[in-house]
Amino acid sequence: MSVLAIDAGTTGVTALIVTEDGRIAARGYEEFAQHFPRPGWVEHAPEEIWQATLAACQSALAQTKVAPACVGITNQRETAVLWDRRTLAAPRRAIVWQDRRTAQLCERLRPHESEVSELTGLRLDPYFTATKLTWLAENGTNLADYAIGTVDSYLIARLTAGARHVTDPSNASRTLLYGLASGGWEPAMLDLFGVPRDCLPEILPNYGDFGTTDPGVFLGLELPISGVAGDQQAALFGQTCFTPGDVKCTYGTGSFILVNTGTQIVRSDAGLLTTVAWQTPSGELTYALEGSIFVTGAAVQWLRDGLGVIGSAPESEAVARTVPDSGGVVFVPALTGLGAPHWDPEARGLITGITRGTTRAHLVRATLEAVAYEVRDVVGVMPPISVLKADGGASANDLLMQIQADQLGVPVERPRIQETTALGAAFLAGLGAGIWKSQEELHETWQLDRRFDPGTRDEEAYERWRHAVRLASTQG
Ligand code: G3P
Repeated sequence: MSVLAIDAGTTGVTALIVTEDGRIAARGYEEFAQHFPRPGWVEHAPEEIWQATLAACQSALAQTKVAPACVGITNQRETAVLWDRRTLAAPRRAIVWQDRRTAQLCERLRPHESEVSELTGLRLDPYFTATKLTWLAENGTNLADYAIGTVDSYLIARLTAGARHVTDPSNASRTLLYGLASGGWEPAMLDLFGVPRDCLPEILPNYGDFGTTDPGVFLGLELPISGVAGDQQAALFGQTCFTPGDVKCTYGTGSFILVNTGTQIVRSDAGLLTTVAWQTPSGELTYALEGSIFVTGAAVQWLRDGLGVIGSAPESEAVARTVPDSGGVVFVPALTGLGAPHWDPEARGLITGITRGTTRAHLVRATLEAVAYEVRDVVGVMPPISVLKADGGASANDLLMQIQADQLGVPVERPRIQETTALGAAFLAGLGAGIWKSQEELHETWQLDRRFDPGTRDEEAYERWRHAVRLASTQG
């Protein structure tokens, strides 16, 4: 038996066929367009996400003989999608989590900040869904006319041909509309952001019955959708971080560090978010503390696309290895403001310490160091950790992993399967469909690829980083 896991990420959709013993039997991938209508704005066309989903699934399914038993979904979180309940057509493009257009709106709502964080575990930042919805309402959209959701809800609506309008608590807890303690949509937040309750999806536990795919619209397949989670929580699950204190970092466009805090809602006064990790069908909620860093892998992409100093992202490792250190160069990649733990949407990137001797290799190395420093800044405000489990595309970079272990002073472990986001969705769906019976059984499938033990760390270099971050910040 196998599971079809759909990972609808920010730049493309991955589809994996995951077997009962936790192996990847097939993979499909399809990119979709990024729309940047104005500086700081980022949009996706929902129809393009759906078409990419179909293409990625078709490609993965074509590589296997036996149809999967169920479908799991994981997705870029926070992105606000609207669609017509009858036709499923979107009236406009989705506003993506990276979009900064609501920075001023957040300032206007600032007097409500403490109530917002108390109820939702989040903060007033353009990152989250609700201010994007308020912006739409203030700019000519009558929200009441549409179904509202994050990408998971939208895809389930499409897969079921409109039969279901549902989400899960890990996605709901990123909207600013979900009450962490109440476990449902929070009336005070719906009022504050002006979001009609009836437009929102029903919230279901992370595995169980999310509907059945309609063969008429989904490649002739009638399959139960039996697991759903936001991508970072799915990665925590895919890394089998089931015990309180287990922590993972996913290195993608951004990097997201989540620590399992068990059934306790743990709050941070140092810039971490409190969020739902997952909910079992019995209703038990597991929570996490999260540090969301917006630009890490995207900084390497900027070296490639913006500056042209490397030809591909993987090349960054070879180029950075040609120098022993960054030669005093510090790059703060605050390219879309700063997320955790600084939270400064107006911060901008900077490069310091350039001399006549500076080469592209120093800049590339400074970029890898920046990723490791950003993660260290977040881990530094978390409860102490003993090991970091790493995954995501950039975790394949051995040099980055070693710098990371050095910086953290704890080992970094990379699993054999680094696509843990999709794997987590497959695990949830498999639990929902009875392919796996327990978390213990899933834990057995986790295999180490490589462990990076910490060496010496250059504290002076880290101090230079901290100084540069203060310069990049508008908060001084
Ligand atoms: O919170 C944003 C996060 O869900 C985006 O993840 O995988 O698209 O980089 P990804």
